[in-house]
Amino acid sequence: MPSQTHESTTRSPITLHRLRELHRSGEKLTMLTCYDATFARVLDEAGVEMLLVGDSLGMVLQGHSSTLPVTLEEMAYHVRAVAAGNKTAWIVGDLPFASYQQSPEQAMQSAATLMQAGAHMVKLEGGGWTTETVRFLSERGVPVCAHLGLTPQSVHALGGYRIQGQTDEAAATIRAHSKALFEAGAAMMVFELMPSELAAEITRLLPIPTIGIGAGVDCSGQVLVLHDMLGITRGKLPRFVKNFMEGYAGIDEAVSAYVAEVKTLSFPDNSIHGY
Ligand code: KIV
Repeated sequence: MPSQTHESTTRSPITLHRLRELHRSGEKLTMLTCYDATFARVLDEAGVEMLLVGDSLGMVLQGHSSTLPVTLEEMAYHVRAVAAGNKTAWIVGDLPFASYQQSPEQAMQSAATLMQAGAHMVKLEGGGWTTETVRFLSERGVPVCAHLGLTPQSVHALGGYRIQGQTDEAAATIRAHSKALFEAGAAMMVFELMPSELAAEITRLLPIPTIGIGAGVDCSGQVLVLHDMLGITRGKLPRFVKNFMEGYAGIDEAVSAYVAEVKTLSFPDNSIHGY
């Protein structure tokens, strides 16, 4: 049964303008993955600024071993659910595998599906070939979050879930891709599983927020997979994940602790590297 036990938040809606203000002021940004209306409400009330309807739902909710089987229709279903529960957070919807690789026009169609379902921004993986697509979407009023480092939709090409950008050449490629994606109009960038020094260096150079997951404390904000940080994911977890349920009485407290620890730079711990 829906309950009225938590007061509705009085926060004004988080807009891109507000995210930019927070970023410029040096405040760290918080993002968590979210796939349904109930959690959308919980995370929003705890002050999480961004809800990522990630294609990680393919692993977390559907039980697949990768994100590759997730379809655009499934993403739209979950974006709609999150949008129904959310009041103020900024909703980012992942463009799933094969929904944007063919052409910028295909990406625009897919972005429209997610935005009409309630997303405020779309996220797509990769650099280089994605630059023109990011430009195409941005010019047409679609806020885009790029995603570099470990890009799970390319897991088979990458040879597994491995830390990226460790050689000079790989780091230079990530640097070049970040710059090109920013110049093409990307409004935000997720950095997944890359050396914290590299993420910190690019974060200093770019005027847009970078959101890290396994990329160190010096990114402009942090994201985690919700079920990982609530300690309910079974099996091996990446080393950078922290179980925020430890020491807290319930989910509301754990999520508030995540927000507080990101804002105060207590999470993540830069001494923890790798997967
Ligand atoms: O799909 C997802 O949850 C993501 C995060 C891991 C950044 O892309």
